[in-house]
Amino acid sequence: MNENDRRKIVILTGAGISKESGLDTFRDTDGIWSKHSLEDVATPQGFARNPVLVHQFYNDRRRSLIDNSVLPNAAHAALARLEAEWPGEVFLVTQNIDDLHERAGSHNLLHMHGELLKIRCSACRTVSAWAEDLSTDHVCANCGTGGKLRPHVVWFGEMPLDMERIYQALSECALFMSVGTSGNVYPAAGFVQQVRASGDAHTVELNLEPSMKASAFAQHVYGPATEVVPAYVEQILAGGW
Ligand code: APR
Repeated sequence: MNENDRRKIVILTGAGISKESGLDTFRDTDGIWSKHSLEDVATPQGFARNPVLVHQFYNDRRRSLIDNSVLPNAAHAALARLEAEWPGEVFLVTQNIDDLHERAGSHNLLHMHGELLKIRCSACRTVSAWAEDLSTDHVCANCGTGGKLRPHVVWFGEMPLDMERIYQALSECALFMSVGTSGNVYPAAGFVQQVRASGDAHTVELNLEPSMKASAFAQHVYGPATEVVPAYVEQILAGGW
C-alpha cells in the first residue's frame, strides 16, 4: 500500500443514484418538483399551513421506499464495495432520504437532509425510527405530546445535519466524488468549491449530464449511475484516480 492508498475519499450523492432503483429525482422533467409544490411540502411554512398535505406527501414516499420492488442498485453496491475495500476512509454524504446506501452495505455515511424512515418530535426533539404512515393524531412516545411529530427531513430554509463533520471531511479528503446530483441546492452544491479551496484534492462528477456545478470539477464522467459508478470504483481500486 502506498501513501496515496490511505487517503480519505468523500462522496456526495443525490437523487440520481436512486433513479434506477425506481425512485424519482426532483428536477428531471418527470421529477418530484414537477408534480408537487416545493413550498407546500418541503418548507416549515408549508407544514404549518397544511400538515395533513405534508404528511400525505411523505407517507406516499415512505410507502414507495418500502415497496419490495425498490432495491439498491449497482451504483449503491459499488460505493459500499469502495468503503469495504479502500484502505483509507470512505465517507459518504448523501442528500437522499432513502435508505438504499445502508441496504447496499455502506456504514460510514451521513444523511445531511435527514431520513424518510425516521420521525422527530418538535416538542422534545427525540428522533425515532418510523416505517408507517404519520398523521397529526400521533402522540410522541417519549414526551407524550400530540400533533408535534414530523418527518425527520430537512426542509428548505432549515440547516442540513452535521455540517461541521462534513466540512472537516471535505478539508481533509484526497478525492471528492459527486454522484447523481444536479448542483442546485446549497450547501451541498458548494462542496466542490470548498474542497478546491482547501487543498489539492481531485474532484470528479459522475452524473447523467453536466450539473450546474460541472465547471468546478476537474473530471467528468457522464452516464447512468449503474454503469459509471461501478466502473469508476473499479478504476480507483485498481490504482487510484
Ligand atoms: N444516473 C445518474 N444521474 C442521474 C440519473 C441516473 N440514472 N438520473 C438522473 N440523474 C441526474 C440528473 O441528471 C440530475 O442532474 O441526477 C440529478 C438529480 O438532480 P435533482 O433532481 O436536483 O436531485 P438532487 O440534486 O439530489 O437534489 C438536491 O434538492 O429538493 C431537494 O432535498 C432535495 O436532496 C434534494 C436536493
